[in-house]
Amino acid sequence: MTVKCLSAPILVTGSRGMLGRELVEAFCTRWGAKSVIGLDSSGLDITQPLKVLECFKNQSISFLVNCAAYTDVDKAETERERALAVNAVGPKVLSNVASSFGVPIIHFSTDYVFSGSKVEPLTEEDIPSPPKPNYYGETKLLGERAVLEQSSNIVLRVQWLYGKSKERFSHLKDRSEFYPFDDQWGAPTWCRDVSQVVCDLIEKKAKGLFHFAYDDFATWYDVYQFVCNEMGYSTQLIPKKIAELNLPAKRPRYGMMSNKKLLRELGRESMGSWKIALREFLRTL
Ligand SMILES: NC(=O)c1ccc[n+]([C@@H]2O[C@H](COP(=O)([O-])OP(=O)(O)OC[C@H]3O[C@@H](n4cnc5c(N)ncnc54)[C@H](OP(=O)(O)O)[C@@H]3O)[C@@H](O)[C@H]2O)c1
Repeated sequence: MTVKCLSAPILVTGSRGMLGRELVEAFCTRWGAKSVIGLDSSGLDITQPLKVLECFKNQSISFLVNCAAYTDVDKAETERERALAVNAVGPKVLSNVASSFGVPIIHFSTDYVFSGSKVEPLTEEDIPSPPKPNYYGETKLLGERAVLEQSSNIVLRVQWLYGKSKERFSHLKDRSEFYPFDDQWGAPTWCRDVSQVVCDLIEKKAKGLFHFAYDDFATWYDVYQFVCNEMGYSTQLIPKKIAELNLPAKRPRYGMMSNKKLLRELGRESMGSWKIALREFLRTL
């Protein structure tokens, strides 16, 4: 089935990743199997301009949804070249080629572009400044800037994703103890909910920078406490501070994102609670 807003299929790059898979499924459900072409890294390497160009020449595309990314936050400190290529050069290549074909892009970024020092929810107007060191955040910031050079593109910042292909929770049942951070703030985010919002943004012909967020926030400790209560796990949760783990990349302490702009765009009053979303997800396990 074709829909009014789609003149041709949507191309999803990085379609084998956690979010990519769920987006392909969401597009199929909303607009039919013919509405989407999913390409994984072997089908299209986004850092190769000629391959990207060839891909656009070979098929008609209405939207490009880029889920390809280098997402290993700590390894990015040492694999800098690869992180830069996938998170900054790739989006620039996609943006240049797509704009020459008049195709808008939806690209994903992260709360890790922020320093984490603002205690209030972060808005799209807040100036990003990744924590140091956090090369992943630096490369994601370059990538979102490259994509936003074209006014028809969308960047959606997301955080703490979970979904079918990466559920972060059921391993708890086999553990007697677990050590979540109690000083990193944000919210766990279901890829299914992000996918629905992406469909809505496409239908609304939205443009620009948006934050995906529920209405409420938590620390990782709160999240795992909630999971233990919901699932009846007896794991003992021992709170840790981010600094205690001495990780290669620094995490932003406060990463709560405001959803006000997204709500206005979608004409909604609420995005609901992370708890309601997570409860529903846990029932699917
Ligand atoms: N996961 C989170 O909690 C989180 C939080 C904030 C923001 N985000 C952002 O959300 C988006 C989706 O993240 P995700 O968790 O779904 O990532 P993911 O599961 O790590 O998937 C990323 C995909 O990108 C592909 N890829 C890597 N290099 C590529 C290249 N050169 N060309 C084409 N594809 C390439 C990978 O394919 P191969 O496996 O074949 O290499 C992988 O399938 C990313 O932009 C990420 O930065 C994620």
